[in-house]
Amino acid sequence: MQILSIETSCDDTAIALVKADKGQFFVRDEYVSSQTKTHAPFGGVVPNLAARDHLKNLPSLLKKIIAKNKIGQDNIDLIAVTEGPGLIPALLVGTNAAKALAYAWKKPLVGVNHIAGHIYSNFINQNTKYQIPNTGYQIQFPILALIVSGGHTELILMKKHMDFKIIGQTLDDAAGEAFDKVAKILGLGYPGGPAISILVEKYKKNIPPQRDPAKAVARYQIPDTRYQLPRPMLNSPNFNFSFSGLKTALLYTVRDHPEIPKNKKLTQEICAEFQQAAVDVLVSKTIRAAKKFKPKTILLGGGVSANPELRKQLGEKIKKEIPNTKYQIPDTRYSTDNAAMIAAAGYFKWKFSKNHKPFYNTWRTLEANANLRLK
Ligand code: KG4
Ligand code: ZN
Repeated sequence: MQILSIETSCDDTAIALVKADKGQFFVRDEYVSSQTKTHAPFGGVVPNLAARDHLKNLPSLLKKIIAKNKIGQDNIDLIAVTEGPGLIPALLVGTNAAKALAYAWKKPLVGVNHIAGHIYSNFINQNTKYQIPNTGYQIQFPILALIVSGGHTELILMKKHMDFKIIGQTLDDAAGEAFDKVAKILGLGYPGGPAISILVEKYKKNIPPQRDPAKAVARYQIPDTRYQLPRPMLNSPNFNFSFSGLKTALLYTVRDHPEIPKNKKLTQEICAEFQQAAVDVLVSKTIRAAKKFKPKTILLGGGVSANPELRKQLGEKIKKEIPNTKYQIPDTRYSTDNAAMIAAAGYFKWKFSKNHKPFYNTWRTLEANANLRLK
């Protein structure tokens, strides 16, 4: 089955041509046009500017993928598009393009939930650039997925394909949003996640080994840091998160220590403490949820899943505390928004639908939904 997929829910215009074969996904071609430059001066995504860039970029990307791969009515079997959640002006560009193609080519069109896309990013392309050997068979149900992005922080339980139960979520800011806001406070530019994680890697290379092991409550504690930040809701008896207080604590620390943003070392140090606080909460809640729900596989997804420390520390904790649980993380290029993940999720939505007929009518009925729920 050959799938053409489109993703425009936020600030990346992404399209992909994916071949699905027995649950394995081969990414034949893909393009992502990033809008970082457009939104950087504002320190966050401006919805109408995002839509304007999608409108400008999507037609030329489509033209390119169609011409280069000689695709059309004869060899496309399915079109998949993100229908929500996301920014409505941005979503409308992708959904309308997909609807036009589905109508012109008389092909079925599947609307995909963006969060489902992030979960299914784990089914594509683990090792090689365009191939995914056996990935579909490594992942066993039940699955516990931690999805951490600029708009979402959710723990999701899946007993089977396309069956989602949210067991915990953020009560305020998303994890990626906290990275972006902290970067803004420290003058590190947008998007904040990559900027912060690069600074922390630099900082870690230069910290002296922990002299007093008794002082380190965790192996990754930032030794003798001047700046202690809270781990919000770490011990709350549920699987929810809160990142707004962490960001505010950092804001007050910077207000009380105006020297921090002016000094490279101090900026690195506070970034390290902030990142570790976020990782501590994410890892601890995921492990606790896994102990309760006993999944066979834990998956990570969303832009923040590109964070090297989160990837590493969650993996180590699983190995130590629940060693029989498989751990699957997406290739970092599929952590952030992309269209291949939309093709993968679209494929399973199609495959597990009892009746395929309605998908031939979605060119008429599909509606972008900014607040689409995962179900
Ligand atoms: O999934 P994504 O591309 O878009 C949404 O669906 O929101 O996630 C973007 C988010 C941004 O907040 C960005 O700062 C964060 O992912 N991010 C990171 C890293 N790379 C991207 N956060 C922490 N560490 C990273 N390396
Ligand atoms: Zn996303």
